[in-house]
Amino acid sequence: MSNPVFITGGTGLIGAHILSALLEKGVSVRALKRPGSDLATVRKVLGYYHPDADAVFSRIHWVDGSLNDPASLAAAIGDARQVYHSAGMVSFDPRDRKALFHANAGGTAAIVDYCLKAGVEKLCYISSAATLGKPSDGELVAEKIHEETPWRLLGDESDYAMSKYEAEQEVWKGVDQGLNCVILNPTIVIGPGDWSRSSSKLFGTIWKGFPFYSSGSNAFVDVRDVARAALTLTNHSVSGERYVVVAENQSFKQVFDWIAEYLGKKKPSIPVSPLLGAIAWRADWLQSRMKGKGPEITRATLASARKQYFFERKDCPAP
Ligand SMILES: NC(=O)c1ccc[n+]([C@@H]2O[C@H](COP(=O)([O-])OP(=O)(O)OC[C@H]3O[C@@H](n4cnc5c(N)ncnc54)[C@H](OP(=O)(O)O)[C@@H]3O)[C@@H](O)[C@H]2O)c1
Repeated sequence: MSNPVFITGGTGLIGAHILSALLEKGVSVRALKRPGSDLATVRKVLGYYHPDADAVFSRIHWVDGSLNDPASLAAAIGDARQVYHSAGMVSFDPRDRKALFHANAGGTAAIVDYCLKAGVEKLCYISSAATLGKPSDGELVAEKIHEETPWRLLGDESDYAMSKYEAEQEVWKGVDQGLNCVILNPTIVIGPGDWSRSSSKLFGTIWKGFPFYSSGSNAFVDVRDVARAALTLTNHSVSGERYVVVAENQSFKQVFDWIAEYLGKKKPSIPVSPLLGAIAWRADWLQSRMKGKGPEITRATLASARKQYFFERKDCPAP
């Protein structure tokens, strides 16, 4: 029997779908979780794709560990032949800056180190489109953003984007040292998951009847396509390459409308002007402080939601 495949982030949106795809192929999987991780979403996600979801779920070998604890990662990866690294902290709360770098950059560095030391056959790293170079305000956006668009600092990057950029740099350092690996840079990922986290918050927000929309555009992709791309590229001979994972460029308004229509909710109808945005993030900041929670809207998310970004991807390698 071959050694297991290891996955981080299996309790999250993308990781749960990679897990599901691996289990469908009959692969033996070891998955990282934290002691407090909620496994209910994974079980629910498996239920969408597997008629025998309980049996499929029981095949996952869960191990406790954290991106913040390198020793736990080394012990969890152990003799795995392939590693899918999909865990990551997703937050736009300015108070999470240190934690973002610790988990995303520090955790990825520890995984890369162990993969090199242990001779893991291949690492698949789930990076983000946030690590790609962007046009500045006022520049023509006819040029689409792609794998080779040079990274540059425009000064309005979120801490999340910076931490993911640093994390990806750790992977490139590993590639220089001989690591066999592929990097995926997904755009905004849509799919069934926990509506209170990551990009799935979009659904939760529209479900609650959020009346505002932002004027920007971005790119979107189905989570099942991200999982499929991850498995295909990991089992391909390609190495030391990054791939933008994108299906469609769309305005936020269009995507919000589709979601609202599908959920039977009112379509957001109030455009967020710069003034309204400035009031909204300050009001949300105050409200979140009073409730002792992280803010839903931040200056960084609003700024990014107003931008017109267009992405394109290179073709997948031939089999
Ligand atoms: N969703 C998107 O639109 C999108 C787009 C591009 C890239 N990405 C990237 O894809 C990755 C997965 O995102 P997602 O949307 O699946 O997010 P998600 O649903 O929020 O899941 C995040 C996963 O990371 C785990 N995690 C977070 N901090 C951890 C830590 N310190 N130690 C161990 N595990 C930790 C979570 O575990 P718990 O369950 O214990 O919290 C969960 O399994 C992230 O790296 C993100 O940057 C996401």
